[in-house]
Amino acid sequence: MNKKILSIIRKKNKTKIVSLSAYSKNVVEILDNYCDIVLVGDSLGSVLYNYKSTREVSLDTMIEHSKSVRLGVKKSLMVVDMPYNTYRNSKEALKNAKKIMSKTKCDALKLEGGKKIHEIIRNLVKNNIPVMGHLGLLPQSAKNFKFKGKNNYEREKILKEAKLLETAGVFSIVLECIERSLAKAITKQIKIPTIGIGASNNCDGQILVFDDLIGLNPINVRFIKKYTNIRKEISKAVSTYAREVRSKKFPLKKHSY
Ligand code: KIV
Repeated sequence: MNKKILSIIRKKNKTKIVSLSAYSKNVVEILDNYCDIVLVGDSLGSVLYNYKSTREVSLDTMIEHSKSVRLGVKKSLMVVDMPYNTYRNSKEALKNAKKIMSKTKCDALKLEGGKKIHEIIRNLVKNNIPVMGHLGLLPQSAKNFKFKGKNNYEREKILKEAKLLETAGVFSIVLECIERSLAKAITKQIKIPTIGIGASNNCDGQILVFDDLIGLNPINVRFIKKYTNIRKEISKAVSTYAREVRSKKFPLKKHSY
């Protein structure tokens, strides 16, 4: 097994796993110093392209962003989301997974879903493609964005699916918007790490979208903590630049040839 993946699995019950979603080289060069996992998430569809849903994200878009991210990731595990409609059956999934892996040189892929796709995942793993699972709120197929695990039916289903994905060979599972006691039960009952987003501190690790964490993406969702207001900082810098250009304070002689 890939050494980086093994080291992620070994963190379970020892140290929390730190992950972020990001989409480009310069940002990821910084994140790589602090993260265990960097995900090229298909959240880029809404965060960068203003798409209504991640369903509009294409394979080529994921590949281009991943190539940029690859340039900045040296030590973290690099995972790439397989976009919507690229893994509808085992054959299609394997073809597209091989394409993403070879063009981006990423370490692993993430697929959304449980029962419906566990055989597809099993086949990818059998073909030496490391897979991260994703359960709970599934943006590629969600009809609403409510948290999961409110009733026993939902709880049983998600717990069963987590075990199914573990058996299929995933090395970790993202739990998105899951009620905290369900996240605790899943984390306890499977041997691979759970990575939560809106799924409480009962998970083995956490993931957020970088643009949300720095306040660049102007959304307010309960599970996001904004660690800075980078829009304000950018505004300050750009307004100073604009003022200096207009008042001919920039560029000075030292900026010229
Ligand atoms: O697309 C994404 O960025 C994700 C994470 C938020 C888990 O799937």
